[in-house]
Amino acid sequence: MTQAVPNITGRLTGSTALITGAAGGIGSATARRLAEEGANVVALDRASSGARLAEVVAEVTALGVRALAVHADVTEQASLNAAVEHAVAELGAFDIVFANAGVIGSGLAENVTEEDWNAQIDVNLGGVWRTLKAAIPVLKAEGSPGSVIITSSSAGLRAAGGGGTYAAAKHGLVGLARAWAHELGPYGVRVNTIHPTAVATPLVMNDANLRASRPDLEHPTPDDVRELWSRGKLLDIGWIEPVDVANAVLFLASPEARYITGIQLPIDAGSTTKWG
Ligand SMILES: NC(=O)c1ccc[n+]([C@@H]2O[C@H](COP(=O)([O-])OP(=O)(O)OC[C@H]3O[C@@H](n4cnc5c(N)ncnc54)[C@H](O)[C@@H]3O)[C@@H](O)[C@H]2O)c1
Repeated sequence: MTQAVPNITGRLTGSTALITGAAGGIGSATARRLAEEGANVVALDRASSGARLAEVVAEVTALGVRALAVHADVTEQASLNAAVEHAVAELGAFDIVFANAGVIGSGLAENVTEEDWNAQIDVNLGGVWRTLKAAIPVLKAEGSPGSVIITSSSAGLRAAGGGGTYAAAKHGLVGLARAWAHELGPYGVRVNTIHPTAVATPLVMNDANLRASRPDLEHPTPDDVRELWSRGKLLDIGWIEPVDVANAVLFLASPEARYITGIQLPIDAGSTTKWG
């Protein structure tokens, strides 16, 4: 006798997700994955993402759900408030927030300028705080279970030399999420952070970052760093794909995770365990 296969399609039918950084690698993959499971999508990114954000919305709409592109900068509270207001007017209240927009930077402590520090903290930590400041009233008023998922990083659980500013912001997100899990629990809203290792997106798969890993090569390709990057992990891979992150977000957003809140979920091929 064969075992019944659980029906895992339509896991988010009836939900609407607000996704920041939706034009980027992880944000766009997650928009597609949540839409495949039936969620409507508010795709938010800064104005400079223009055409790419429109493409993501077109791809998501083609899956049969409703989607809306909204431009906002997570460093500007007023633009986020306006984006949330516009989204609710167009698609109704959202019950899922994926606070994911971020930038990367590096440098030894004594070389990081005040400007670099402020810019990174403002997007990576302040941007998530502002996103939720705008979104929490909607989640509280929604009156049905909600889920907030915040993109931290493996650098939000441990740190490497030369990445102090990024690690400070990403560790800070864990504190925010823990506090918000307390504040929103009584409203049935769960709050969790995810902690990906290197993901194949423009954020890390760019010339400067590849050259930093392989200064011995003039034009290193991803293949040239694969073995080096795999040394930090328990599984024999150099990096993960955006869909691997999207699948974890889907799980945390879905009713399957209905009693999971206040956790830090690594998606890292074992790197936190190896170095933690
Ligand atoms: N790629 C990785 O290896 C990796 C690993 C761990 C964590 N992360 C985190 O994942 C998140 C997504 O990164 P990604 O890899 O998809 O990078 P990405 O560069 O492809 O996407 C980031 C998106 O954020 C948007 N963004 C940046 N600043 C913004 C602002 N001020 N306002 C609104 N939007 C803004 C960008 O326009 C872009 O579309 C980031 O928070 C990043 O720190 C990435």
